Amino acid sequence: MNPLAKELNDLLAQHSPHVLEMLSDLGKNLFFPKGILTQSAEAKDKAHKFNATIGIATENGGPMFLQCIQDKLSAFDPKDIYPYAPPAGKPELRSLWREKMLRENPSQQGKHFSNPIVTNALTHGLSIVSDLFIDKGDHLILPDMLWGNYNLTFGTCSGAIVKKHPTFTAVGGYDVDAFKATLKSSAEEKGKAVVLLNFPNNPSGYTPTVAEGDALVATIKEVAESGCNIVVVADDAYFGLFYEDSLKESLFGKLANLHPRILAVKLDGATKEEFVWGFRTGFITFADGSKQENTPVMTALEKKTMGIIRARISNCPHPSQTFVIEALRSPQFLAQKEEKFQVMKGRALKTKQVLNSGKYDAAWDYYPFNSGYFMCLKLKNVDAEVLRIHLLDKYGVGAISINKTDLRIAFSCIAEEYIQELFDIIYQGVRDLA
Ligand SMILES: Cc1ncc(COP(=O)(O)O)c(C=O)c1O
Repeated sequence: MNPLAKELNDLLAQHSPHVLEMLSDLGKNLFFPKGILTQSAEAKDKAHKFNATIGIATENGGPMFLQCIQDKLSAFDPKDIYPYAPPAGKPELRSLWREKMLRENPSQQGKHFSNPIVTNALTHGLSIVSDLFIDKGDHLILPDMLWGNYNLTFGTCSGAIVKKHPTFTAVGGYDVDAFKATLKSSAEEKGKAVVLLNFPNNPSGYTPTVAEGDALVATIKEVAESGCNIVVVADDAYFGLFYEDSLKESLFGKLANLHPRILAVKLDGATKEEFVWGFRTGFITFADGSKQENTPVMTALEKKTMGIIRARISNCPHPSQTFVIEALRSPQFLAQKEEKFQVMKGRALKTKQVLNSGKYDAAWDYYPFNSGYFMCLKLKNVDAEVLRIHLLDKYGVGAISINKTDLRIAFSCIAEEYIQELFDIIYQGVRDLA
């Protein structure tokens, strides 16, 4: 093992031994090398005469660039676009995001957690979690309504065994008891579990009520108290898009500093929240279980995260970090976000109104939804994949079939005035086939 990795592991052993136990073999071996990046950072501060360290080209005291590119980006200073961004992300962005998290998540106030580290959006954050914490055969606990890409990231790439529980109870609440049973059985079998909480959920569009959220947190605490190490990942990709009476913050705040055997990890980002899907700007933030500030543990996790970023992608794109900084600082940011929120909320509520008309009851039920981009129909008498293909071929309407009964509809991309027509067409498609 590299001596730098050993140093980080010793820090963890001393200040949070359970977090050390949670790491995968790769996680234990990770460190941030004192290589080119560290030497370049030192030179940036001290090399006032010639700085011949970093692998970019310079000219006239700044980065070299092509004018045909700069012409299109003339609002930005070349230094904020072309050079590599720091391995953990631009410091201004990290502190602006930290402020935003605190503003929007009252439960995080007074808790201690790491600075957010910039990722290449949430998918990259998920793969960092997988690398740091999953060894082949480790259990990943998920509801059965899940974003399919988790299987690839955690199952195919790291060998996790995905343990699914029913998402909803028969009366349409979040199935906390099923979650509890699944977590307990992993605790008994493995003594370790990675729990992934994704609210607003893809594909169901559900966010738990405050009471359900508290019950999830209490369950996780109870199982940790029984001696199980639990990494709890909040995938907050659709954060903020809460349209009804649900939790309106991430469960990360309530999971932070809760128990020494619980490591909370928050994954969030600008992708869906600020409608910049292609920018690829996200964040990973850690909170351990100790009641006091635990800087050595946060440092060790940050260094290991920087190590895996350096190994896999070197660093995240610089221009999009600059764009997001500009957005977060813009005086119009909050008003513009509110405007788009109202558009999305209008689509969600219209969807519910149309579905509640009773007109389609013979064809489907729908799963509970109150947030995010999506909702799912539960078809009563036709196969979802057969219907999907029929809708495409006959009506030019696209939706996603999740399994035999469930069809996912992204109301996020249907203007409110077309929502009635969309469901009328889907209903007609069902009647054609039934
Ligand atoms: C639940 C969930 N998590 C993460 C992601 C990935 O987000 P990103 O585009 O930021 O990688 C998605 C995207 O569809 C998602 O639905």
